[in-house]
Amino acid sequence: MGRHEQPAAPRGSARRRAKVQRELAGDAAYLRLSAAPVEGCDLHVCFGAVEALRGVSVRVQPGEFLAVTGPSGAGKTTLLWVLAGAVPARSGVARIGEHEIRTRDQSARLGVALIPQGNGLAAVLTAVENTVVPLLAAGRSPEQARTAAVAALAAVGLADSVDHLVEELSGGQQQRVAVARGLALASPILLADEPTSELDHDNRDVVLALLRARADAGAVVVMATHDPDAAAVADRVIRLDDGKLVEDNGAASRGREP
Ligand SMILES: Nc1ncnc2c1ncn2[C@@H]1O[C@H](COP(=O)(O)OP(=O)(O)O)[C@@H](O)[C@H]1O
Ligand SMILES: [Mg+2]
Repeated sequence: MGRHEQPAAPRGSARRRAKVQRELAGDAAYLRLSAAPVEGCDLHVCFGAVEALRGVSVRVQPGEFLAVTGPSGAGKTTLLWVLAGAVPARSGVARIGEHEIRTRDQSARLGVALIPQGNGLAAVLTAVENTVVPLLAAGRSPEQARTAAVAALAAVGLADSVDHLVEELSGGQQQRVAVARGLALASPILLADEPTSELDHDNRDVVLALLRARADAGAVVVMATHDPDAAAVADRVIRLDDGKLVEDNGAASRGREP
């Protein structure tokens, strides 16, 4: 078992890409999409005296991949969390379709999967156990949950690590488990907070391809990132600075980082 992220050999990389494509084909077949846009209107979020968001509005359509960029402390994480109902807005509103989102339970019921910054895994559970838990909570049978979890872990290149304890995995491997856990839910809305920050180039591309494919299959995908190359995979890039939206390259300029 490797504790460190291994750069993939070119041949292994091609094999893995083929495998990812197979996994994605399977995914798209059972992805149940409710075509609801995700929207934030004039969102203000405060943590004590800190104004983390100061009037941010954004709307993301089904099938759209939005990258949220900006320097550390700009409010990227806060925007994802308020859209997920995981932190309250002081004013403004987060919506999924017609539903106003106020709690994380509510957004989970409406199909929001959140891949948190810093992975949020239980260190003393295995990779597959961590991935299975939200699937069981969402009502899958143990067999369905294990099958989906193993497929998602394989899609991120961790087929050989499913039964490894998270604490035995490298930071990059742990991040890929967190991504697999978010993907395994096959949710119509995926909010991913810096999901490639710990990854080498090849693994970053695998994860970005998976997120891209989810959007292409009709999901809303929102990814916070400070990596311009990662943002370039998105349809649209917005930039936050000091809690404000300072740039939005619009839907027309896919692949261009501001
Ligand atoms: N739980 C919290 N308590 C206090 N301040 C917070 C909390 N979460 C975020 N902040 C502050 O809100 C601002 C935006 O943070 P964050 O959304 O994490 O930015 P980013 O993800 O762009 O780095 C920062 O000033 C940060 O220190
Ligand atoms: Mg952040």
